[in-house]
Amino acid sequence: MSEIPKDLLDSFRPPAFPGSFFLSFEGIEGAGKSTQLKHAKEFLENKGFRVLVLREPGGTSFGEKLRKSILESKEPINPLAEAHLFCSSRAQLLQEVTLKELNNPGTIVILDRYLDSTIAYQGKARNLGTKTVLELHKHFPLNLVPHMTIYIKISLETSHNRQKMRNAPKDYFESQGDDFYKLLISGYEEAAALFPKRISIIDGEKSFDEVKEQISNQLEALIQSREEVLK
Ligand code: TYD
Repeated sequence: MSEIPKDLLDSFRPPAFPGSFFLSFEGIEGAGKSTQLKHAKEFLENKGFRVLVLREPGGTSFGEKLRKSILESKEPINPLAEAHLFCSSRAQLLQEVTLKELNNPGTIVILDRYLDSTIAYQGKARNLGTKTVLELHKHFPLNLVPHMTIYIKISLETSHNRQKMRNAPKDYFESQGDDFYKLLISGYEEAAALFPKRISIIDGEKSFDEVKEQISNQLEALIQSREEVLK
């Protein structure tokens, strides 16, 4: 693993609004992220929270323009340019939406992909390096990280099989080969090792219902632990 200075890691912290939660969902293609995210939203709404799901890149009108410029690009984008585009979309979304929403107690903002996607995709698969990605994020508001990140982990083979079954058109990243996916998996491993408290690894090889249960248990534990603190 690359050497990351402690003071760089220490610049990352969750937002300090009492009574609201910031979450993110991560995983490679075929992990079941979108479907599990829907269930997590329902689970949290049933507990009385107001839940907002936002996607990255995008979520603001500026961010959606950046999303198109990346995902519809026909020519290769320089990795550093790519990382900056994702950071721009993220900073705008944080300022325009996420932070305002988190200021309301009882709110949960769930990001469909966040910092760990940049570590995996740009840092590892695009070879920019995790340290460079973290350095790009060390200033406010990009230094804000979720209270919990749900990483649904699957193998390359499972990703292949599920993508074959789905047979959906592929975007800029999805059309990459096996080596790219292997790097993504190792990028997520690296992120999980750097942020072990924040990133909760879910075994995505299990059945849909089992994955759903693992996620609900993690969310329940997070809510309980915060309720204890707020008592
Ligand atoms: P999207 O259609 O939202 O993908 P998915 O349904 O898999 O979440 O497209 C987002 C793509 O952008 C996805 O392939 C991952 C990639 N990405 C990065 O490369 N870096 C990032 O920081 C983020 C947020 C996404």
